[in-house]
Amino acid sequence: MNWFAKALVFKSLSAIPGGAALYRYAQWNWTKSIVATPQRVGQKIDVGMGYLKWLTDHGYTLDEIRGLRHLDLGTGWHPTIPLLFHKIGLRDQILADVTALMTPDTFVDALAQTENILEDKQHPARQFLSNEKFPAVSPGADLKTLLNDFSMSYHAPYFKWAGGAGEVVDLVTCTEVFMHVERPILDDCFKLIYGVLKPGGIFMAPVHLFDIYSNSDPKISVYNHLRYSRKFWKNVVSSDIMTFSRHKSPDYREALEGAGFEILTFEIERGSPADIAKLASLDVHSELSTRYSSDELSEKHLFFVARKP
Ligand SMILES: C[S@@+](CC[C@H](N)C(=O)[O-])C[C@H]1O[C@@H](n2cnc3c(N)ncnc32)[C@H](O)[C@@H]1O
Repeated sequence: MNWFAKALVFKSLSAIPGGAALYRYAQWNWTKSIVATPQRVGQKIDVGMGYLKWLTDHGYTLDEIRGLRHLDLGTGWHPTIPLLFHKIGLRDQILADVTALMTPDTFVDALAQTENILEDKQHPARQFLSNEKFPAVSPGADLKTLLNDFSMSYHAPYFKWAGGAGEVVDLVTCTEVFMHVERPILDDCFKLIYGVLKPGGIFMAPVHLFDIYSNSDPKISVYNHLRYSRKFWKNVVSSDIMTFSRHKSPDYREALEGAGFEILTFEIERGSPADIAKLASLDVHSELSTRYSSDELSEKHLFFVARKP
């Protein structure tokens, strides 16, 4: 679908009462873009494995990982990473989001797919799994019961909880969330995460830096979003339903350091030579070409890990 038409649909839906719910209904029933397919769940398990690899590479033992109190921020519809962590043996997980997207059905769907994927004896996660089976799920169980049976709690919206929680968490994961968060809200978010982490606590997040509309519009480059002014992007393209920031790695570095974090890992993935050739012929808006170097403009993905000193 043409990216701009799609953005205008989001804008129109954002302007009508019940538009966000209608959009979610469409995602679930028509476009099926949020159904827990083996591919989607498998990909999130791989992200969770990346988190575990970072921890073990940095000296955490499996027993230490099992003892971590984990916050998954921006969980979305499917708690795949918390389910993977549960299977590893974590028994104290907090799930949080700005809106309550998770339902008993999405929980159970993600569970079934996760269970299926982890049954494969060749799966690399097998080395970390505890011998315990997932808790049995009673048909028709409500979300609170499900979460309770899996030693999880859910805060959506989470601001009130986070504001009063204190330093209670050892590990925060936040998977492909921050591309939807504009500064200065991003700065507030990082300060809030800093606030809930215990000293020494770890915050890890992968973030897309490319134009996510290029996933569904093959006619545009992964850098198409760099062509527009801030005003046009904010007033015409962005909406309550789909905010897509165009931040690059310097913004994340500034926001992390501004919140007080010590950055431990900051891995940037740039476009392929073909992507970069397209970028060279793209008319990048002067607001962005003066803010970022050409290397920064070519960034497509960031994975950072930060520590609260
Ligand atoms: C692309 S989905 C990713 C969901 C999930 N983390 C995953 O990887 O499957 C983006 C998520 O970010 C959440 N989100 C958006 N703004 C947020 C904010 N300021 N704080 C926390 N979560 C936010 C959305 O509600 C949504 O659940």
